[in-house]
Amino acid sequence: MELKRLGASGVMVPEIGLGTWRYSGGSEPLRRGVELGANLIDTAEMYRTEDQVGEAIVGIRDDVFVATKVLGSNLRYDAVLRAADKSLRLLGIDKIDLYQIHWPNPSVPIGETMRAMERLVADGVVDHIGVSNFSVEDMQDAQAALDNNPIVSNQILYNLRRRRAERDVIPYCLENDIMVMAYSPLHEGALVGNSGGRIRQALGLSRDQHTLAEVAGETGKTAAQVALNWVADQEGMIAIPKSNSVARTEENCAASGWRLTAEQRQRLDRAFSV
Ligand SMILES: NC(=O)c1ccc[n+]([C@@H]2O[C@H](COP(=O)([O-])OP(=O)(O)OC[C@H]3O[C@@H](n4cnc5c(N)ncnc54)[C@H](OP(=O)(O)O)[C@@H]3O)[C@@H](O)[C@H]2O)c1
Repeated sequence: MELKRLGASGVMVPEIGLGTWRYSGGSEPLRRGVELGANLIDTAEMYRTEDQVGEAIVGIRDDVFVATKVLGSNLRYDAVLRAADKSLRLLGIDKIDLYQIHWPNPSVPIGETMRAMERLVADGVVDHIGVSNFSVEDMQDAQAALDNNPIVSNQILYNLRRRRAERDVIPYCLENDIMVMAYSPLHEGALVGNSGGRIRQALGLSRDQHTLAEVAGETGKTAAQVALNWVADQEGMIAIPKSNSVARTEENCAASGWRLTAEQRQRLDRAFSV
């Protein structure tokens, strides 16, 4: 598993992590992923999976980097502190490695939220502060509101089919040492014909999926591995696919440790740009 630096923190995290939105796989897929080096687990109070993550990391907590999120509707000072406390209890841990603001909330001054986040760091219950779904302007405001801590990551929608962030958010993150955590890297499974377990292969491959399959054939990898590698091989970026299955978690972890050629990347870029 290749590692990436978590922004200015200097902490190294795997380029393939484990997502847990709509996760119902029990402990095994997560524990297998950690065993294979995908030891960053992403959850959120919204997902209601913090308890499952807590169960999965019993006995291996020190090997896992736990990232969770406070709801965008819980960004008042006291609400942030309460939400963090609840997450700690559900996760069964005494420190959150990365605490992320799930999405911006213009009705709460960002200074109030960040004061709470810095209090959590000062109290030793949060190690690093991250954000999610933040625009460039949101990131600028958020960083300006912090006295003692950098924003180390921004978790955003990014995959072969969703590339809007290339225009501004990703360049800004690169320039400002903020790691990009790409969510829905498989486009919720749609890139590989698996949407919530409904296999769509019978409908045939779309043109872009055809190119994905072609590159997969050339590399001896699966389409999911190619799609994840395409994300994770970018500077300052990791991908956090979710899978309920041990076999697919193993497949996703093996998306790291090899590279697409420049020509293959270009062909994918062309196929997915229309
Ligand atoms: N910050 C945010 O606002 C936000 C929003 C969305 C997601 N996220 C985070 O990002 C994580 C990942 O995103 P996501 O869950 O939306 O979508 P995703 O990881 O792009 O796709 C998940 C879907 O793909 C399937 N899948 C996984 N590996 C596969 C493989 N190797 N082959 C075929 N199908 C595969 C899964 O099914 P199985 O489970 O059956 O394998 C599931 O249906 C989330 O779990 C969450 O942690 C954050």
